[in-house]
Amino acid sequence: MRTNNHPVRPSRYDGKKFVRASVTTVESETRIREAVRNTYASRASGSSGECGCSCDSTKVEAISEAESLRAGCGHPVSITTVKHGEIVLDLGSGAGADAFQAAKLVGPSGRVIGVDATPEMIWKARDLATKDNIGNVDFRLGEIEHLPVESGSVDVAVSNCVLNLLPDKLVGFQEIFRVLKRGGRIQVSDIVTSNPVPKSQVRPEAWASCIEGAISETDYSQLLTQAGFRDVHLVGEEDCSGSCNQNSELRGVQISAVKPHSDVQSRSPSSPS
Ligand SMILES: C[S@@+](CC[C@H](N)C(=O)[O-])C[C@H]1O[C@@H](n2cnc3c(N)ncnc32)[C@H](O)[C@@H]1O
Repeated sequence: MRTNNHPVRPSRYDGKKFVRASVTTVESETRIREAVRNTYASRASGSSGECGCSCDSTKVEAISEAESLRAGCGHPVSITTVKHGEIVLDLGSGAGADAFQAAKLVGPSGRVIGVDATPEMIWKARDLATKDNIGNVDFRLGEIEHLPVESGSVDVAVSNCVLNLLPDKLVGFQEIFRVLKRGGRIQVSDIVTSNPVPKSQVRPEAWASCIEGAISETDYSQLLTQAGFRDVHLVGEEDCSGSCNQNSELRGVQISAVKPHSDVQSRSPSSPS
């Protein structure tokens, strides 16, 4: 029987080749997930609450309710990352700002799926889609670690300041890999840190504010590679130094990666067989 003090997963990822990315106990993982849900449930109703995940340099004037509820740290959706007719998956879609932008770019022949673990965010995004008559978006309640999305069905997965919040990042990255088509891409804006907080010392509220779940850029890239991604590149950076987090060790980054076209290209020790 597993007790709260035992590791969530055995040391499958320990050793020289693997980065261990999960928090250490069932209890701490549960507290983190609760803090994340509570934080973003309040934000869905417009409460700014705790210091959020945004970087000052990414703030733009809010021209819609979805924009005003943005909690991201970059701009993963643009004309260069999302093409007409594509199937886009927005991971941790929040109130839907990036999903709505992607919906315009993919047009009526494309489709956008937003997945978020906080029911209040999903309800808000669905309301806004109905209000604005946006028909090519579909918001689904679920966790990135267990995506409610068919395998091999997505052209591009985007995410804005969410993956740092996952208690087990490798499992999340493997799920994203599963749902992408061969040749599919991931385009992520996220927070990394030069000084990760030891897993045993994380505080759930600080984790939920995108501070203590952040890992180093090197570990981020290695985990994506372990999940099977190739062509992992840092494609941009955001200045987070003036953000309300006031933490000079945090950096906003944009990372892109690709799911290879063939098994030979993608084979890696921990990728799903
Ligand atoms: C910092 S907000 C970013 C929201 C949105 N991407 C944006 O730019 O406004 C993080 C979002 O990720 C969601 N989230 C956190 N952990 C998640 C998980 N494991 N699976 C799915 N969504 C998650 C939260 O509910 C929240 O809506």
